[in-house]
Amino acid sequence: MPSFSAEKQSSMRLDLFTWTEVEEYLQNCKGVILPIGSTEQHGPTGAIGTDALTAHSVALEVGNRAGVLVAPTQSYGMAEHHLGFPGTMSLQPSTLLNLIHDLLISLAMHGFERIFIINGHGGNIATIKSAFAQTYKSVSKMNSPLANSFRCKLVNWFMVPDVFAEAKSLYGDSEGQHATPSEIALTLYLEPNLIKKQFPLPEPAPAGPIYDFQDFRRRYPDGRMGSDPYLANANHGKVFLEKAASALTQDLTSFLKEP
Ligand code: NI
Repeated sequence: MPSFSAEKQSSMRLDLFTWTEVEEYLQNCKGVILPIGSTEQHGPTGAIGTDALTAHSVALEVGNRAGVLVAPTQSYGMAEHHLGFPGTMSLQPSTLLNLIHDLLISLAMHGFERIFIINGHGGNIATIKSAFAQTYKSVSKMNSPLANSFRCKLVNWFMVPDVFAEAKSLYGDSEGQHATPSEIALTLYLEPNLIKKQFPLPEPAPAGPIYDFQDFRRRYPDGRMGSDPYLANANHGKVFLEKAASALTQDLTSFLKEP
């Protein structure tokens, strides 16, 4: 069984706070974490919600360690190239950009000055960075002193150097680029029943370019890009969560102090 406590993890959830508690929190801390994932195919053995489940759990762990509020997870992301596989639900880049912008502006209006986005999906990165640029412009137009101190930061848990190094040492080239054993391992730790869906898979299609969803399915017929998720297990997942949470807690702490 997972050693983290669901009760402990729930303590910094914004959705369980009242507005008066948020007002009080803002007296002492202007930081907030926004987890974002995706709802998309993860090969024949991986859960559709992998990127959201992983970002959510890393964010709660970081929020709990740093004492920073965690907003509800944005479970839909930019997954246009995965639409050739049933169950995938995607936002167009322009939709995601507007959505992120609106959420960040909402937080800015209450006086949150440091927004730390913990992301679980590579396909979201470009759009989130564009949303930051748009948000800075909107905040500067608000003509509030906030404009001088408002900052957004994007971090990707799977790209944390310690996580990446651990994945390479456990799986080598079989880490691949999509439906990776590292992300699947974390879902197995979080949702132990997912182990029932695992079975050995044939050699994956090698990782390569990404174009539209039809091309993606032709190039990567079972949805994987160079990965062997059958190498994953829940114990690895626990290690990945620890390494990601520990590095990102440090990262967040210095981000909060940044002038
Ligand atoms: Ni993923």
